[in-house]
Amino acid sequence: MSLKKYGEYALVTGASSGIGREFAIALAKEGYKLVLIARRKKELDNLAQELQETKGVEVIVYSADLTELHAIEEIASFTQNIDIGLVVLNAGMQTHGSFVKTSFEDQTKMLELNVIVPMKMAHIFAKRLTEKDLGAIIFLASTFAYQAVPYFSNYAASKSYILSFAEALHVELSLKGVDVLALSPGLTKTEMPESIAMDFSKMPISVMEPSDVVQVALKALQDKKSSIIPGGRNKMMAFMAQHLMPRASIAAMFGNMNMKAMNPKVL
Ligand SMILES: NC(=O)c1ccc[n+]([C@@H]2O[C@H](COP(=O)([O-])OP(=O)(O)OC[C@H]3O[C@@H](n4cnc5c(N)ncnc54)[C@H](OP(=O)(O)O)[C@@H]3O)[C@@H](O)[C@H]2O)c1
Repeated sequence: MSLKKYGEYALVTGASSGIGREFAIALAKEGYKLVLIARRKKELDNLAQELQETKGVEVIVYSADLTELHAIEEIASFTQNIDIGLVVLNAGMQTHGSFVKTSFEDQTKMLELNVIVPMKMAHIFAKRLTEKDLGAIIFLASTFAYQAVPYFSNYAASKSYILSFAEALHVELSLKGVDVLALSPGLTKTEMPESIAMDFSKMPISVMEPSDVVQVALKALQDKKSSIIPGGRNKMMAFMAQHLMPRASIAAMFGNMNMKAMNPKVL
């Protein structure tokens, strides 16, 4: 694939592991210089060194907790004079289990990271990119965005926000030369699902490799799509949720599946 050159640099949040890390690798292959952001500096430094050595691209590492007060303003000023054309708003976290058993702090932090942070980053970069009439923003939604998901209630709601927000911006910004994509992966082999007290083999879903998810996303961006769900089975589940079943029934079905697969301690 030869991806459009939106600018000299691509910025990826949450690049220290999983899907974000694979975005960094794929974009380096496409010849982009990189700005990589996450909290774990060592992981970012190791990745930067690997990409500089193997792909010959310049990599800037910026270690930050995106939910900290002023983190986004500091990124805005740090990147002011860097020609960033492609922005991947990937950093995210997940809460799970019975809502009343989870902590108020975790749920609030998740909304900050999954919703407020990408909204603020989009506000800063959409302005800059539209001024140049060139650029792209990829948002990380999820197949959970397509219906209510009991025991992931707040996480799924945060991803519904991102899906709706990104699809709306796709229309607004396409008139100003900026491509916007909502990427909605299903279960993907990363640290995120590994950290959950859940037996995924009890669910009718298949797992994808993060590198495959990224390839599907970059192809969709190239094709100027507004939204993409990687994987045939994931697409089918989302179609079923949107067109074939009443919302209440699909939520009840997910509740039932999750209850069976989740560790009873968190229910
Ligand atoms: N894996 C799945 O099944 C799946 C499915 C659908 C959607 N997604 C979405 O895909 C995105 C990437 O997740 P992943 O699966 O690749 O999980 P992951 O491996 O856990 O990656 C999450 C990334 O976010 C970063 N991050 C977390 N909290 C942060 C904070 N406060 N400040 C800055 N960075 C932070 C992490 O880095 P540090 O810990 O170093 O900060 C890490 O690089 C998320 O938005 C997730 O919701 C994942």
